[in-house]
Amino acid sequence: MKAIRADELAPGQATSVMLEGTNVALFNIDGTFHAVENKCAHRAGPLAEGFVSGNVVFCPWHDWQFDVTTGVCINAPGVQVRSFSVSVRDGDVLVDVTGVR
Ligand code: FES
Repeated sequence: MKAIRADELAPGQATSVMLEGTNVALFNIDGTFHAVENKCAHRAGPLAEGFVSGNVVFCPWHDWQFDVTTGVCINAPGVQVRSFSVSVRDGDVLVDVTGVR
C-alpha cells in the first residue's frame, strides 16, 4: 500500500508511517527505499528517528544497530526487526506490510 510519494523523502532521510496498524520506518538509502518495523528489538525505540550511516540505522535510544535492508541487528546476533518489501510505482512508494521479507 502507498506509504509516501517518492519525492517526499530525500536520500539519507528517514520517516515513519502507520500502515494497516503497523508503524513502519522508511529509509531512502542513495535513492533506494527500504522499510522495517519502527520498533527497535531492544525496547521498542523509534528507528526512523535514528542516525543512519550507509545501510545501518542506530537506534536513538541505546544505539543498537540494524541493517535497514534486512532488519538484521548488527550488534546482537540472532536479533532482527521485521523487514518489508518496498517498490516504487508512478512516483508512489509502496510498502507491503502483510508479508515479512
Ligand atoms: S530501544 Fe533501541 S537500543 Fe534500546
